Amino acid sequence: MLSKTIEAALNKQIRIEAESSQAYLAMAIWAEVKGLEGISNFMYDQSDEERTHMLKLVKFVNERGGHAHVSELNAPNVTFESYKSMFETLLEHEIFVSESINDLVHIALQEKDYATHNFLQWYVAEQIEEEATARTILDKVKMIGDDKGGLYLFDRDIQQLTVSSAAETPED
Ligand code: FEO
Repeated sequence: MLSKTIEAALNKQIRIEAESSQAYLAMAIWAEVKGLEGISNFMYDQSDEERTHMLKLVKFVNERGGHAHVSELNAPNVTFESYKSMFETLLEHEIFVSESINDLVHIALQEKDYATHNFLQWYVAEQIEEEATARTILDKVKMIGDDKGGLYLFDRDIQQLTVSSAAETPED
């Protein structure tokens, strides 16, 4: 059974994952409108992945005798100065999510909720992957600079960038 403190903290994270999904959906749409098809597809996939992160939390809360909440969400940014600034926002957002997961792990330990602590380890590992991917992308984007040919190739190749997916570990 979840304590009220843990339940509230997990519900807060459910909201953050839902907001992440919406933020990346907005990025996918922006990139699509700009004709950056590869980047757009990549961001649609990221958006889907955040939804799976959210659902995993929803299931966990409900299975442990809690009640998962669907909250009102803050609207994400829908326009970006450049695709570089879009990817900077992506990295900043993932760092924010990692901090939030770390806070949750801390609360789980304080509450001596070792089941939740164990469950959260999947998110700890996932955040390492996601931050690493965002940094790799940003490094490439910085290398390309204003080179149109480079952007063309990057947009073509970004879909090959493998990001750890929740779908890859359905049993977790
Ligand atoms: Fe679910 Fe990318 O944080």
